[in-house]
This record gives sequence, structure tokens and C-alpha cells, in this order.
Amino acid sequence: MFITFEGLEGSGKTSQIPILDSYLREAEYSVFCTREPGGTPIGDQIREVLLTRENTAMHQHTEILLFQASRSQLVEEVIRPRLKKGEIVLCDRYADSTIAYQGYGLEVDLAQVRTIVDFATGGLKPDLTLFLEVDVEAGLQRRNQHGDVNRLDVKNLDYYRRVRAGYYEMMKAEPERWEIIDANKPSNEVQTALREIVLARLKENGRVG
Ligand code: TYD
Repeated sequence: MFITFEGLEGSGKTSQIPILDSYLREAEYSVFCTREPGGTPIGDQIREVLLTRENTAMHQHTEILLFQASRSQLVEEVIRPRLKKGEIVLCDRYADSTIAYQGYGLEVDLAQVRTIVDFATGGLKPDLTLFLEVDVEAGLQRRNQHGDVNRLDVKNLDYYRRVRAGYYEMMKAEPERWEIIDANKPSNEVQTALREIVLARLKENGRVG
């Protein structure tokens, strides 16, 4: 089972996923946790190129292709082999991030972006995508408190509003794949909600830890 996590800046994904990972392991599920961009030695090098603030000259098509280069390496080196072994793969961001951030956010032609994303994933889709819903402004404020600002973080409010609207378009188009979690709530409540959803899906798929 392939489970991805999506959300805007400051949604708390990155702290919630490891906690969920430990919980599932304790319940004796075989879980593997990864993230994008990165997740492989090659992908981590690409991540650096994407995020360093020195690369202000990066064209948006270059940005799209680098995300896909990192992704295709992750899919082939990690995700497919792990799924083949029957593991549950948890991934912090995946293809939907490109559609939301580069497609809707940067307003690059959606059909073209989808074609490139499909090429990178070889058509591998998540079984379940958890969207951690957070108010755009509250989320950006949370992120800014962490202090660590990368190249992709210096975007305006309208950009993030387009990204958010993009996510909602995708959820409308494929409601059975998505679950929305209210991440404006305290983090322990968010974790409880994540566990309930994931355990229910695992059981539905006949998987017991
Ligand atoms: P990261 O520091 O991992 O942030 P987050 O915790 O929000 O995931 O940086 C990843 C950034 O890259 C984030 O701003 C979202 C962006 N991104 C894209 O724009 N397109 C993509 O395809 C992916 C995977 C990420």
C-alpha cells in the first residue's frame, strides 16, 4: 500500500509522519517512510540544487524537471521495490505536489505538467493521499517561525492560494483517493485522526499488523 501526504507549508506533515511511522511499526506493520524531493542519494543531491537560495536563476521548466528526476529515482530505487515486498510506503509529498505547486501555483500548462509527472512516476499512483489542511496564512506563519527559508519558500500569498485551490481541484476529481485532515487542530488530535484513517484503510485492504 502506497500512502502519500500532501499539504501547504506549515501543515505539520513532516513532524506527523515519523510519529505515525513509529506507531504503525509498533503495531507490527512493515512500513517504509520516505520524502520528496530526495529519499535517495541521487534525489538528495537534486534536492540541494532545488532548494539552495543560490539558484535564483532557475527556470520554472528546469524546476519541474528536477522534481521529476528526483521522483523517478525514488520510484524505481525505493518505492516500487518496497511495495513489491509488501511493505507500506509512506511518502512526504509526491506527484500531486508538482501538479499543485508547479501546475497551479506557477500556472504552467497543466496537461504538459501531467504528462511529465506520469513519465517520472511510470504511472505509479498512491492508494491513499492524506491532505493536511491548514489555513494559508497560519501555515506560512508557522513555517516562518522555523526560520529555515529555502529557495522555494520565497513566494507570495497569491501563489499559495493557487496551490491550495489546485489541491482542492484534484480532490474533487478523485475523491476516493483523498482524505482531508484538519491540521489547524492540536498536533495530538491530528495524529489521532491520521491513525484512524490509515488503520481503517489498512483493514479494508485486509492488512493486519
Ligand atoms: P520541504 O522543506 O521538504 O518542505 P515541506 O515540509 O513543506 O514538504 O521543501 C519542499 C518544497 O518543495 C515545498 O515548498 C513544496 C515544494 N515542492 C514542489 O514545489 N513541487 C514538488 O513536486 C515537490 C515534491 C515539492
